[in-house]
This record gives sequence, C-alpha cells and structure tokens, in this order.
Amino acid sequence: MENFESQVAFWDRVSSLAGEKKRGFSAREVLAAAEPFLLPSKKVLDVGCGQGGISKAMARHVHSVRAIDISSGMIAVAKSDNEGAPISNISFEVGSVFSLSDNENDWNMITSFNVLPYIINLERMLCRLSNMLPPGGLFLISSACLGERMSLLRMLVVTLSKLEIMPKLHQFKSRNLVNLLNDAGFEILEIKKISRLPEYFIACKKR
Ligand SMILES: C[S@@+](CC[C@H](N)C(=O)[O-])C[C@H]1O[C@@H](n2cnc3c(N)ncnc32)[C@H](O)[C@@H]1O
Repeated sequence: MENFESQVAFWDRVSSLAGEKKRGFSAREVLAAAEPFLLPSKKVLDVGCGQGGISKAMARHVHSVRAIDISSGMIAVAKSDNEGAPISNISFEVGSVFSLSDNENDWNMITSFNVLPYIINLERMLCRLSNMLPPGGLFLISSACLGERMSLLRMLVVTLSKLEIMPKLHQFKSRNLVNLLNDAGFEILEIKKISRLPEYFIACKKR
C-alpha cells in the first residue's frame, strides 16, 4: 500500500480553500491538447481528478468518465458541483489506482493531469497504470517538469516542501518522464509544451 496520509491532508486543505478554482492550473491548455483524443468511444479513468473540472469537460466528448482522487475533500467538491445539472456519464469516487481491483478495467483510456510530480514511487505507479490498460489503450498526462529550468516557482516549491507545507514534488525533466513512460510500456504519440512553467502534455499508447 502507498502511504498517502500527509498528501491527503494537504489536498483536503486545498479543496476547502475559498475561491479555489474548480479547474486546476493550465486546465484550458490541457483540454485543448487532449481534445483530439477525446472520442465518443473512449471510456476514461481520470486519476487524481481534484475538484473535477477537467473530468467534467472531458465527459462532454467521451462515452464515460470514472474520476478518482485520494482526497475525500476534492471528491466532495466535485460531487457537489455536479448536483445542479448533473452530467450523467461521470462518476466521482475516493481512491487510488492501487485501491481499484485487478478486475476493474472497464476503460480504454487513462488520464492523469497535474498529478505525476506528486507521486512518491512514480515508477511503480506508471507500471500499475500500464497494467490497467489494454494494448493500444491511451494514456494522456500533463506534468510540470521543474527540472528543466531554475525559476522562482521552483525555488518556492522546494522551500515549501522542505518546510512540509506542501508535498514533495519530483523535479524531473521531460526526457526523464519520457524514459519512465517508455520503461513502463508506453509508446509516446505526442509531446507538447503547454506552459512556460514548463509544463508538458504527453499522449502515449500502451504497447
Ligand atoms: C494539482 S491537483 C490536479 C487536479 C486535476 N487533475 C486538475 O488538473 O485540475 C492533484 C490531485 O492529485 C491527487 N492525487 C495525488 N496523488 C494521488 C494518487 N496517488 N492517486 C490519486 N490521486 C492523487 C490530489 O489529491 C489532487 O487532487
């Protein structure tokens, strides 16, 4: 089992912040990059959905979205936002890829936006995600690659995580992430810089 406790406490706190945007950082750029892959045949598992803004936007294009997050605070916000005029082809639940059972594989696409830098054992997580997809299944991600350049934001993040105010963040470069994806059995279809952070959108396919 993963030890998520400190991370859950952090994301629960973030979820309750007044005025927190329902769509995370770079959501518009992520959606624009993902849109060509969001076809009506796609059954999507969205890992680390947060408050669910991107999950709901994806649901308009695809067959269905099952959105999961380790933070019950995030899932509560996502569910309550879906109460007024509910989107019927989406579900939200508290969980991680390790809490889903091996028989649960009713999807042909996995998405995970702005989550990978926070994953403690990233290699293990990527292998699990790869095992959860059929060959040819798509995996769409967005990720900051803070190792690519020194910036004020990077210094701030390093300081905040040293002070344990926020979870530790990987500071990999995009080529490190591509290597990890290859090692986990994914073929890269597209890689695109979507912000000057720098943050990348990567589309890959299970080999
Ligand atoms: C920066 S937010 C991104 C939310 C959303 N994907 C977006 O782009 O707006 C990161 C989210 O990942 C979740 N998270 C972190 N580690 C996770 C894990 N191992 N499994 C599932 N969710 C996780 C956090 O609870 C948080 O809600």
